[in-house]
Amino acid sequence: MADNSKIFIFDTTLRDGEQVPGCKLNSNEKVELALQLEALGVDIIEAGFPVSSPGDFASVNEISKTLKNVTVCGLTRAVQKDIEVAAEALKYAKRPRIHTGIGTSDLHIKAKFNATQDEILERAIQAVRWAKNFVDDVEFYAEDAGRTSNEYLARVIEAVIKAGATTVNIPDTTGYCLPHQYGEKIAYLVNNVPNIDKAVISCHCHNDLGLATANSIAGIINGARQIECTINGLGERAGNTSLEEVAMIIRSHKTLGFHTNIDSKQLNPLSRIVSETMRMPVQPNKAIVGSNAFSHSSGINQDGFLKDALTYEIINPEEVGADSSKIVLTARSGRSALAFRFQKLGFQFTRNDVDTLYAEFVKIADSKKEVNDDDLTVMAKDFAAQTV
Ligand code: KIV
Ligand code: ZN
Repeated sequence: MADNSKIFIFDTTLRDGEQVPGCKLNSNEKVELALQLEALGVDIIEAGFPVSSPGDFASVNEISKTLKNVTVCGLTRAVQKDIEVAAEALKYAKRPRIHTGIGTSDLHIKAKFNATQDEILERAIQAVRWAKNFVDDVEFYAEDAGRTSNEYLARVIEAVIKAGATTVNIPDTTGYCLPHQYGEKIAYLVNNVPNIDKAVISCHCHNDLGLATANSIAGIINGARQIECTINGLGERAGNTSLEEVAMIIRSHKTLGFHTNIDSKQLNPLSRIVSETMRMPVQPNKAIVGSNAFSHSSGINQDGFLKDALTYEIINPEEVGADSSKIVLTARSGRSALAFRFQKLGFQFTRNDVDTLYAEFVKIADSKKEVNDDDLTVMAKDFAAQTV
């Protein structure tokens, strides 16, 4: 029986992620990252857009030869030549997938294709049929599905499933939808596409309004079973759904009843590798993988955290392969954090000592962003010298 609680993780770091200016990868880098993504436990790797350049063709080809345990996917437009080139690039893959599609919103139909809904529907069907000549596993994307009317989207999805699509991707290409709207769109398809049980529904959400992760979660709650995402949320413009966020939401909220194959301990190490290889720093306050994700700096938080870490941490840093939690000393820190850091450095002070030291500490902290171990050592030694 199919496991209806499994969420397939479709990683597109090497395709949508690599579209970020400055993040271009060479073939060796792509193969290296693909191996790491396979080890992380993703189910599908979108390795590139083979027709776009000889370099991308070569990368998809190399990844297809190298990876043994994941599905390797190549992107195409709904164009015969694209599909043929993708099939060629994927020919050594153990599990090849062609990802083809076309814009379905009125804006895309008119502005991009100067066509009608019926013409686009026909092109979608033809693309899926053509891809089926080369592989069994065909995913169809309805680009700008987020702004496509549900009625027309349902017609397209029904037709492409009939033509052989085994996964149907519902991209919120411009990151426009609110979570309840995206969720309702998925529910609409579940309830109005008669053959929907023959395909997996996939969420592909962009982050233009900061809602990519929330929308993807709304999607799976309403019946989707695949999420397309990238490490560190890299992707066009404001990025894609972040892999580490969805993996940890699913893991942390057991009541959702979902699971993935992601080995969460690899999330931070791989985030760093991707950031370095793609020359794209991670913002410090990024969920799960930012350098501040497990730092505590205000007195109230530090005091609670030192009494019981669960007061201010919902994830144990070890669980996501991050360094242990940090108590950062700033002008907002309190006495318990100061005493804790002195203790870590090997200085034992009484409560009264800490009170005296705290007055000095606050002066230093007001003049600096952060009080570090060297500052504390000097303070402790001065204090000891004054009290002999
Ligand atoms: O955002 C999007 O619509 C895409 C498609 C090409 C899948 O990236
Ligand atoms: Zn995209």
